[in-house]
Amino acid sequence: MTKQDEQIREEVRRYYGNLAEQQPASCCEPSDCGYGPSYPSELMTEIPKEVAGFSLGCGDPISAADLQPGEVVLDLGSGGGLDCFMAAKLVGAEGRVIGVDMTDAMLDHAAEVAAKLGFENVEFRRGLIEEIPAEDQSVDVVISNCVINLSPDKPAVLREAFRVLRPGGRFVVSDIVIRGEMRPQFRELADSWAACVAGAPTVDEYLGTLNSAGFADAELKSVNDAPLSEIELGIPFSAMIVARKPS
Ligand SMILES: C[S@@+](CC[C@H](N)C(=O)[O-])C[C@H]1O[C@@H](n2cnc3c(N)ncnc32)[C@H](O)[C@@H]1O
Repeated sequence: MTKQDEQIREEVRRYYGNLAEQQPASCCEPSDCGYGPSYPSELMTEIPKEVAGFSLGCGDPISAADLQPGEVVLDLGSGGGLDCFMAAKLVGAEGRVIGVDMTDAMLDHAAEVAAKLGFENVEFRRGLIEEIPAEDQSVDVVISNCVINLSPDKPAVLREAFRVLRPGGRFVVSDIVIRGEMRPQFRELADSWAACVAGAPTVDEYLGTLNSAGFADAELKSVNDAPLSEIELGIPFSAMIVARKPS
């Protein structure tokens, strides 16, 4: 990890520490990420409005993951925990959800909500997604929502996701990506990396890095189903990325 990578990580931690205290409804302007999550209402039952309203994601990995009762789910960069709570309802008492985040204020907030809502099958672990605090082959599904683009070392994140998944396990992630080279105005925005913009990888980088990590059947599509060839070059957009660890 270079000095510059460390600075990026610290900047991201500072940015999300502040957001955890303010609890806004999104991490950035819609024009930055192109999409805020919109979850089907059935996922939101029994989740109080103030919890449901604190999402910093850019898609809905929960619906895409087709979670089954009894599964173990790991959420990379769990933030306030909304995806973890929805996943916990779907995997039920026999299943388990682990949220990993590096920002203390986010972890404290998520743990507080879990206790208040009485979720016993969710835990939040402090750690880096580049060094996931979980055993090898211990997880059925890795989810993540608008986080991997923030990492200065994306190959490490995807290698770690591969390591913790069981053979046949699923990788189901919403994230910000671009086609072609990023336009300078996005890189130059204040807080551009931390607002999920400047660190966005290209579609080809994402798919190539998943393949290099060992994943099979990697696919990436825009969350609003626009054909990739129609998405303007150089502008960040929200995508759903899925892949599978070979059995
Ligand atoms: C854009 S927010 C998304 C939060 C959550 N997934 C959601 O949908 O609301 C990014 C989160 O990822 C965490 N994060 C960013 N980089 C990380 C890293 N390298 N390791 C662990 N957590 C990280 C931040 O602390 C923050 O909580």
